Amino acid sequence: MSKTPFIDPFSEAIAALEDYVAFEVEEGRNTVEMDPATIAALATPPPSAAAGPATPVSPPAPPADLPWATLEAVAAEIAACTHCGLHPTRTNTVPGEGTPHPEVMFVGEAPGADEDAQGRPFVGRAGKLLTKMIQAMGFQREEVFIANICKCRPPDNRKPEPAEMEACIPYLKGQIALLRPRVIVCLGATATEGLLGLTGISRVRGTWHTFEGIDAMPTFHPSYLLRKPGAKHDTWADLKAVLERIGRPLPPTAAK
Ligand code: URA
Repeated sequence: MSKTPFIDPFSEAIAALEDYVAFEVEEGRNTVEMDPATIAALATPPPSAAAGPATPVSPPAPPADLPWATLEAVAAEIAACTHCGLHPTRTNTVPGEGTPHPEVMFVGEAPGADEDAQGRPFVGRAGKLLTKMIQAMGFQREEVFIANICKCRPPDNRKPEPAEMEACIPYLKGQIALLRPRVIVCLGATATEGLLGLTGISRVRGTWHTFEGIDAMPTFHPSYLLRKPGAKHDTWADLKAVLERIGRPLPPTAAK
């Protein structure tokens, strides 16, 4: 994987370790005692594999007037898109990835350098934290769907312009219509504004909204959490509210 710009590999490794430790401490896990029962528990399958899907998912048919019949068709149109000024500088489009039948869908802002290089969402440093957040909820990354408001990288990782978001949002709406997740988690201010029309992420995070009949929860963006680890506590509360909403128990490692 290409490295995040601005950070040398040593600093990146230290930062990742610090982030990991801070997250564990935030969750109250500040010891690594390994008694025989713990070792035995570690030998059993992870909770998501052992428990299977929390609730059977039978998504309703997408609306008849949707311009795309499949997620692959949306991705193909994104790959050819020239609707805004981001297309000349992209390396890859980043349509999103995950299960076609997610209980939970995560929506971020736009690809960064790593995502642009790989054509996959949230694979950089913030993505690694998002993966940990997803796993802390008891899911594997492949069991959710991850997408962005914009499918192309804005130069220098700047925030997408309103015109760029407007040009791209039909793709996200199409994906949501096909996916019909039980809950959408809006990661950060741009996703919350782009999808729900809400501003003031610190104020609206942790409160329930709806997008086209689907429950939506705004929370902090993982990039923000890397800068402000203290905000992980609130974010975890938001993610626990999502688990409660879908009737999925807290994984044993997270239950306190
Ligand atoms: N930040 C985002 O909002 N999306 C990504 O895919 C990566 C980083």
